[in-house]
Amino acid sequence: MALTLKKVLISDEVDPKCVQILQANGVDVVKDTKLTKEQLIQEIPKYDGLIVRSATKVTADVIAAASNLKIIGRAGTGVDNIDCDAATKKGIIVMNTPGGNTLSAAELTCTMVCVLSRQVPQANDSLRAGRWDRKKFMGSEIFGKTLAIVGLGRIGKEVATRMQSFGMRTIGFDPIIPADVVAEFGVEWMSLEELWPLADYITVHTPLIPKTKNMINAEVFSKCKKGVKIINVARGGIVDEEALLEALNAGICGGAALDVFIQEPPKDFTLVQHPLVVSTPHLGANTTEAQSRVAEEIAQQFVDAMQGKSLFGA
Ligand code: NAD
Ligand code: MLT
Repeated sequence: MALTLKKVLISDEVDPKCVQILQANGVDVVKDTKLTKEQLIQEIPKYDGLIVRSATKVTADVIAAASNLKIIGRAGTGVDNIDCDAATKKGIIVMNTPGGNTLSAAELTCTMVCVLSRQVPQANDSLRAGRWDRKKFMGSEIFGKTLAIVGLGRIGKEVATRMQSFGMRTIGFDPIIPADVVAEFGVEWMSLEELWPLADYITVHTPLIPKTKNMINAEVFSKCKKGVKIINVARGGIVDEEALLEALNAGICGGAALDVFIQEPPKDFTLVQHPLVVSTPHLGANTTEAQSRVAEEIAQQFVDAMQGKSLFGA
């Protein structure tokens, strides 16, 4: 069934390609990235389509006010900022662009493994401050180390193949993707219990769901090698932030790289300011290439829906 879309609101910073594609297909597009929640609730009845990135929270009250809304598009992977249950109950389609930023998120993850191994940001800060601390920044090679990848979907797989080129052993767990499939891209499938004691680095690439909330917790740290390093470029809350801080202070965790946080931006900067932590403000998908791709993909998916083609999302 073809959707009629006359007017679409883009309420977050999305690459201009999105507007261009929609307009070229006869859609009236308004881009307003400054709306407060109250203003969004007031404005939303005028639109039959909405495109967001992360900043706009499409909560149940926004959806309740959206009397004409037929479709919500997320120019990105996770749909955590959209109340999908409320949308579905109202018959509103929710779409995302799950593959558009995979490579960028994978590349940031690999960067994190590298900078953790040599404390590059800390050494840079030290030199900028006028010090020449060669002893303090003794690193370790990545070659021959074991990378445990929890979640072997799109990003997990790309991380695995890239880190194998550094000579890392890649082991991993995914409840859906079986051992023979992950073996094809060089990963040894193991249970979580088998992973923890073998890992020099653990990187998580799962959605944040009840099963993965606080998945890397105090109990897990107690089963890990002393000095294990943790990377989270997936979602804040998969790594228990309190347990991580304790493990860092106790010397159990030898370093952590965080792109995502339970609260974004964080209110408490204790973890971010820890000397063994390297962090970025949710930059996994912040590349010109990924932003161009997700903008194009979400606009094209809207056009496909208008033309009655099959709907896409994950
Ligand atoms: P994906 O759906 O392709 O892969 C996720 C995998 O996690 C799936 O294979 C799934 O089976 C697995 N999984 C689910 N529950 C699990 C569990 N309990 N234990 C282990 N594995 C489990 O998703 P993706 O595109 O690879 O994205 C991974 C994560 O990265 C998502 O949370 C996504 O939102 C996030 N992400 C972050 C950024 C960023 O900017 N930092 C960018 C893109 C994606
Ligand atoms: C995503 O879910 O796509 C990422 O978190 C990146 C983003 O929000 O742009």
